[in-house]
Amino acid sequence: MKSIGELPRHVACVMDGNGRWAAQRSLPRTAGHEAAEAAVIDVIEAARSAGIKWLSLYAFSTENWRRPAGEVDILMRLVRRAIRKHAPALHARGVRCRFLGVSDPRIPPRLVQDITDLMTLTGDNRQMTLTVAFDHGGRRDIVEAARSLIRTATPAEQVTEASFAQHLPYPDTPDVDLVIRTSGEQRISNFMLWQVAYAEWVFPQVLWPDFRATHLWECLDAYRWRQRRFGDVRRPTTTTGEESR
Ligand code: IPE
Ligand code: IPE
Ligand code: MG
Repeated sequence: MKSIGELPRHVACVMDGNGRWAAQRSLPRTAGHEAAEAAVIDVIEAARSAGIKWLSLYAFSTENWRRPAGEVDILMRLVRRAIRKHAPALHARGVRCRFLGVSDPRIPPRLVQDITDLMTLTGDNRQMTLTVAFDHGGRRDIVEAARSLIRTATPAEQVTEASFAQHLPYPDTPDVDLVIRTSGEQRISNFMLWQVAYAEWVFPQVLWPDFRATHLWECLDAYRWRQRRFGDVRRPTTTTGEESR
């Protein structure tokens, strides 16, 4: 019989399906992005109250710059509006907010300022760490880490998986345990490639704007029944080699 595991330490969501949600209602794609906000807020609170310590949300990829300028512009506006609206509540609930990416000069300076302000405001919070992958690309992070190693003239024999990971953004972030990708798509789309190396995946058949706390519970429940082996054949272990929690 399978053993029931515990909560994942780090849950990451690929929030997909906004455009299809809008299309089903004969609305413009941007209406789907607008409706996504409610799901984001619900999931942050549900994860926090469930005791998840690390939550990452994929909001905008380096590839999403290929979308029509009007859609990109609305996405930037919506993210800014959401930050301004929800910053006080996130802070009051002890959520530390971080952003992964945010290096492209096309991001409006006012949005960059709001992101910086939110990270400063919530930087000492420890209830949960919310990492928003925004203008994020997993390959870019790996290339940047390689550049950083070269800049520090690290001798090749000193480059290990652990030392390499220290050059990734937010190296204190634990590996992702569970990835939830909504909408039925089953691909990585360049998301946190290093950190998802041994993640479990679930693909709920729901479009992101409809995703709510109950869907998160279902995903956590599915995770509890997974046997994580990390390549071993004996007792499951964590990526750090400790015995499973
Ligand atoms: C996810 O929804 C949001 C972003 C990628 C910004 P999509 O916009 O990809 O929605 P679909 O996949 O077209 O339905
Ligand atoms: C991945 O979704 C990016 C985000 C959810 C922000 P996409 O909809 O952009 O991915 P593809 O194009 O289907 O791979
Ligand atoms: Mg999509």
